[in-house]
Amino acid sequence: MEPAYASSALLPSLFRVTRARRETSDSVTLELAARDGDTWFPFRAGQFNMLYAFGIGEVPISISGDPTAPETLVHTIRAVGSVTRALCDMKKGDIVGVRGPFGSSWPVEHAQGRDVVVVAGGIGLPPVRPILYEVLAHRSLYGRLILLYGSRTPEDLVFPKELERWRARLDVDVQVTVDTAARGWRGNVGFVTTLVPRAPFSPENAVAFVCGPELMMRFAATELQRRGLAPRDIHISMERNMKCGVGLCGHCQCGPLFMCKDGPVFALPAVQRFLTIREL
Ligand SMILES: Cc1cc2nc3c(=O)[nH]c(=O)nc-3n(C[C@H](O)[C@H](O)[C@H](O)COP(=O)(O)OP(=O)(O)OC[C@H]3O[C@@H](n4cnc5c(N)ncnc54)[C@H](O)[C@@H]3O)c2cc1C
Ligand code: FES
Repeated sequence: MEPAYASSALLPSLFRVTRARRETSDSVTLELAARDGDTWFPFRAGQFNMLYAFGIGEVPISISGDPTAPETLVHTIRAVGSVTRALCDMKKGDIVGVRGPFGSSWPVEHAQGRDVVVVAGGIGLPPVRPILYEVLAHRSLYGRLILLYGSRTPEDLVFPKELERWRARLDVDVQVTVDTAARGWRGNVGFVTTLVPRAPFSPENAVAFVCGPELMMRFAATELQRRGLAPRDIHISMERNMKCGVGLCGHCQCGPLFMCKDGPVFALPAVQRFLTIREL
């Protein structure tokens, strides 16, 4: 079955905001529906769309919804500059341009029969949320499911209600930490990487998916390897600046790799050397 919207690699399709939900003081989840026709929007966990705020600009944003329920297109956006601010200010009924889905995906199916370790920092949780949906939809095919999530403060945690729902399940291990907390916070304090050493997974039979600031991903990868995980079993999302999103402009190129087309999801050995190089 073909998706009901007309997609083109370079021409945005028009989508309408059907719901705008504030997550934190600077982040918003937008649910979108194709302006003409159905919203059926199949994607793989880890892929992104180019979202166009008309008159302002276009940015890559991961799809944060459920790949097993492609009838709703969901993105979670943190306002850091002009385009993301415009997207975060959108209200129900506003129009967004959408190109995509683009890029590589988290190799979730390769983790079948193994423990799944998801490590996310800050706004890195939305790009890995589809992994949790997918594993939970086929729960018996996977080993343990562990989510390690860190943010700057308790107020910066995205999806707090969903985190509570997952935490209440016996088949998911959710551990949350914050860098700094005021009195009253009863959870962990410290960087998300401090959760890795005591996370309950079997390193010889686990796959890790890591998303967050590059420094955090670098330290998380180091800790995961210290636990015994092979570098090939650690996957990260390289969220470098992009323009075309489809391998044409070279804006996202790192050596021989195009982050938009070959990535954004890579196994660690493919991109480890770029993690120490700041983008231009
Ligand atoms: C594949 C991919 C998936 C992404 N998924 C999400 C997502 O799900 N949610 C979300 O909120 N953001 C996501 N981002 C980051 C988002 O694209 C940037 O925040 C956005 O491009 C900033 O544009 P702007 O015009 O609002 O700000 P600008 O004015 O362009 O930049 C404002 C500040 O943000 C920094 N910045 C710009 N681009 C990036 C980037 N790619 N990563 C980190 N910092 C950046 C700039 O250096 C600057 O300091 C993703 C990026 C990529 C490449
Ligand atoms: S963003 Fe244009 S080549 Fe990747």
